[in-house]
Amino acid sequence: MLVFFKRYRMQFDLRNHCFDDLAMPPHFRLLAWKPRLMAAHAEAKFRSFRDELDANVFPCLGDADGCLKLMSDISARRDFVPEATWLIAHSDPERDYLVNCGTVQGIMDGPDLGLIQNIGVVKSYRGLGLGSLILLRSLAGFQEVGAKVVSLEVTVQNYSAIRLYERLGFKTQKIIYKTVEVPSP
Ligand SMILES: CC(C)(COP(=O)(O)OP(=O)(O)OC[C@H]1O[C@@H](n2cnc3c(N)ncnc32)[C@H](O)[C@@H]1OP(=O)(O)O)[C@@H](O)C(=O)NCCC(=O)NCCS
Repeated sequence: MLVFFKRYRMQFDLRNHCFDDLAMPPHFRLLAWKPRLMAAHAEAKFRSFRDELDANVFPCLGDADGCLKLMSDISARRDFVPEATWLIAHSDPERDYLVNCGTVQGIMDGPDLGLIQNIGVVKSYRGLGLGSLILLRSLAGFQEVGAKVVSLEVTVQNYSAIRLYERLGFKTQKIIYKTVEVPSP
């Protein structure tokens, strides 16, 4: 059985946009891409998406191994943009380990257009401004490599994500439909 998910393609114009330095809340760090962070990105991605609508649209997002493979595939692409790929880690002072709580990746589609991939913040860390901060850092990274515009897709029922994108200045460009094959009931 085929299911259609209605999605918005939204765009951010980087031209003439100046990004301020980002101040992270205490105990949170933005980590630039390094191959050794692949599993940390995959973990943050899985924990961000596993209970969300987009895990139906892209089933790999609801599966830990699927997220690892996705990270591996994205980071191996020739058009992968390390500068637009960031991880947020939280060092809880009461624990002696880091929690990987936010992730975003970037790829290029030609010389001018950046594509945001799978931005996610783990549920218990939402509403702290982390989604805004990691997205702004990714946009600044796209600007550093010469992108002029950045595009992303979002499922229309994903209201909190759409509010975030609109607040930061993304504009809806078009409506698209993603087809997913699901087992018949
Ligand atoms: C979309 C998503 C990344 C947003 O992450 P987030 O960290 O909650 O984003 P922010 O904290 O920057 O913004 C969320 C809300 O917190 C508010 N907020 C921001 N900073 C704040 C602060 N310091 N204190 C209190 N509230 C704050 C924002 O105003 C916003 O309010 P709104 O929902 O009424 O618009 C997150 O919900 C998510 O991972 N969702 C699941 C995965 C997903 O669907 N990703 C998008 C795929 S297209």
